[in-house]
Amino acid sequence: MTRSYRLAVLPGDGIGPEVVSGALEVLDAAEAAHGFETERREFAAGAAHYRATGELFAEAEAELRGHDAILFGSMGDPSVAPGILERGFILEMRQRFAQAANVRPVRLYPGVPTPITGLTPERCELVIVRENTEGAYVGTGSTVHAGTPNAVAMQESLNTRAGIERVVDFAFRLALGRRKKLTLCHKTNILVAAGQLWQEVVADLSARYPEVETDYVHVDAMCFHLPLTPERFDVVVTDNLFGDIITDLGAVIQGGLGVATSANLNLDGSAPSMFEAIHGSAPDIAGTGWANPAGSILSLALMLGHLGEADAARAVEAATVQVLGELPALSGAAMGLSTAEVATRIAGIVREGSAQTELVPESLLGQLAALAPSRA
Ligand code: IPM
Ligand code: MG
Repeated sequence: MTRSYRLAVLPGDGIGPEVVSGALEVLDAAEAAHGFETERREFAAGAAHYRATGELFAEAEAELRGHDAILFGSMGDPSVAPGILERGFILEMRQRFAQAANVRPVRLYPGVPTPITGLTPERCELVIVRENTEGAYVGTGSTVHAGTPNAVAMQESLNTRAGIERVVDFAFRLALGRRKKLTLCHKTNILVAAGQLWQEVVADLSARYPEVETDYVHVDAMCFHLPLTPERFDVVVTDNLFGDIITDLGAVIQGGLGVATSANLNLDGSAPSMFEAIHGSAPDIAGTGWANPAGSILSLALMLGHLGEADAARAVEAATVQVLGELPALSGAAMGLSTAEVATRIAGIVREGSAQTELVPESLLGQLAALAPSRA
């Protein structure tokens, strides 16, 4: 019987629909070349849908839950006040679907220019694992005397032992299949309460994974070491807010937001995982054809790896890397090809089975399936 997966597609706003349509063209090619199929269902979500209906994640939750994976474009538009979609959709999905590990590879691909002088692909092959459901992102806190000179705002960071354990355990298992090095990134000298709990969990779990070497780096020092000596890191595990910040830095190192990608992994099988490019909706260039679909296509590769289609995943990643290396610029008019043309070129390589898979290291994509929970 043909392997088949139920896929929810959420193109969203801005450049989201353009890059996702590119990713789906590549998915068609991958299915044809690798003998599996997807049953796709598209969901309206994002700024335009919210303005028309008032609907956020809550309205889509039950239907989304039945899928094997979610492919997400981007969300947000200046017509909706900041925070509404971010909290009401993106964070709701991460939290209610227990997508506890936000996996963001930082990989410099051959032929892709980086602003870091002298950096080579061999020196830049790490993964940041960001806790995705707790920390400062839970949104608790309060404001008193708002709008007066005596205004007071308190914003809390929630850290549970169970929440830290599930993501740190995942990071250890990921490291086990790689270079066996796990670095905790935090700010334990100032955020002592949370910092202590994170350190305690890493120390306790490291007894279960004696082959994995552990290390600790403060988040400010990480901003210094990550661009200059990325070879020092294999798997970095960190809290939600620090992870948000250092993964943008990671994106810069690997050539920009156009190539950065991520998986929001549910680790207990209770709900689908979600795959998305790191870039936002970029309303300023929507419709121009200047957006690079690579981030979205690379998120498709992560999704295929997670679903167990490791060969297809690797072919998609390698074809994307090959085409990225041929582009004169990574986005904008200078890219030379439109969003759709970049996608068609990648899809062509995948369809004819000529992707140079030696261009990409194999560890991560194959590992995602091995680490995926079984789903009912
Ligand atoms: C990201 C984004 C989101 C975050 C926003 C859009 C809520 O910056 O995925 O990194 O802060 O997590
Ligand atoms: Mg971010």
